[in-house]
Amino acid sequence: MLLIVSNKTDLATDYLIVRLHERGIPFLRINTEDYLLSWDVCFSIKESATHVEIRKDGQESLPVECFTGAYIRQPKIPDLNIADGDKEFAKREVGETLKSIWRAIDDSIWLNAPRRLLLASNKPEQLTIANSIGFKVPDTYVGANYESIKKFYQAHSGKIIAKAVKHGFDFDGYKARVAATQKIDEASLASIKCYATIPMIFQNHIEKEYDIRVIVVGSDVFATAIESQDHEETKTDWRLSDCYKIPLKQYKINLPQKIVSLCLEMTEKFNLRYSAIDLVLGKDGAYYFLELNPNGQWAWVEQLGIHNIRDSIIDALVVNKGRM
Ligand SMILES: Nc1ncnc2c1ncn2[C@@H]1O[C@H](COP(=O)(O)OP(=O)(O)O)[C@@H](O)[C@H]1O
Ligand SMILES: [Mg+2]
Repeated sequence: MLLIVSNKTDLATDYLIVRLHERGIPFLRINTEDYLLSWDVCFSIKESATHVEIRKDGQESLPVECFTGAYIRQPKIPDLNIADGDKEFAKREVGETLKSIWRAIDDSIWLNAPRRLLLASNKPEQLTIANSIGFKVPDTYVGANYESIKKFYQAHSGKIIAKAVKHGFDFDGYKARVAATQKIDEASLASIKCYATIPMIFQNHIEKEYDIRVIVVGSDVFATAIESQDHEETKTDWRLSDCYKIPLKQYKINLPQKIVSLCLEMTEKFNLRYSAIDLVLGKDGAYYFLELNPNGQWAWVEQLGIHNIRDSIIDALVVNKGRM
């Protein structure tokens, strides 16, 4: 039996579920916003043994030991019907309780183990590790100090970008918020001086042939080129294609073996079995590592019909070939 943990609107999870049905593989899906509404958990310790069971309305309780594979994608904390003043406390308590369920399931069963998702998500650390294993990474400054930013700008002859430390695209449940990667010029440098800012990642601007999304599942590596340079609006940040309704050409590519090995090594360094890695192919012919998304979206790649990612994920869950 597989455990699928997600939210009600996640497309990637829907893709997975459709295929699980087609392949006749038994699973239990729980959407975390529905915790306490349509499913519950019972965690108890008695006589030196811990028992954790998940109980979904209308179904038998399942002890976590019955799960031979577990998948998690973008769990959301339920929007509890609790007074505003107590909401943060309640959300924290719910989040911590959910965490205890995930941790009652062995890390090797998960794709990816939730605690490892947390450990893998820091971009500056990822850049350091990528650099240390032999990936090319852009020169980087992380911070908010105007003098340091100006020095970095000058050292790169004014060819730098700024982007979010955590991530630039967010969805607060109602609307998308965008803080796209931006080129920095004299005017934006002046505004950084005037307004106290939050820290950002500053990097030398890589002249790109195209962007690349790499999906790693176990030892499978799926690479997709994104022709971001075809349109002025998407040259710096290809994700603005959504805002401008620009369909970008995307197609399957074969990466050089060295880059494939580096993507696998990056994933292993963080003890992950899945990752979505963003690379760019520079005009200088070099592949640059930008970031690793340990729970990154793969549904849009599947939609292109050029890679069969969901069967690879299901195979990894069914065989449960945890490599840790
Ligand atoms: N140093 C850089 N030079 C040129 N483009 C960049 C650079 N860093 C990021 N980008 C562009 O910004 C977009 C998002 O990059 P990414 O590093 O994956 O940030 P995020 O964490 O917001 O997803 C992509 O289109 C990527 O090509
Ligand atoms: Mg990215």
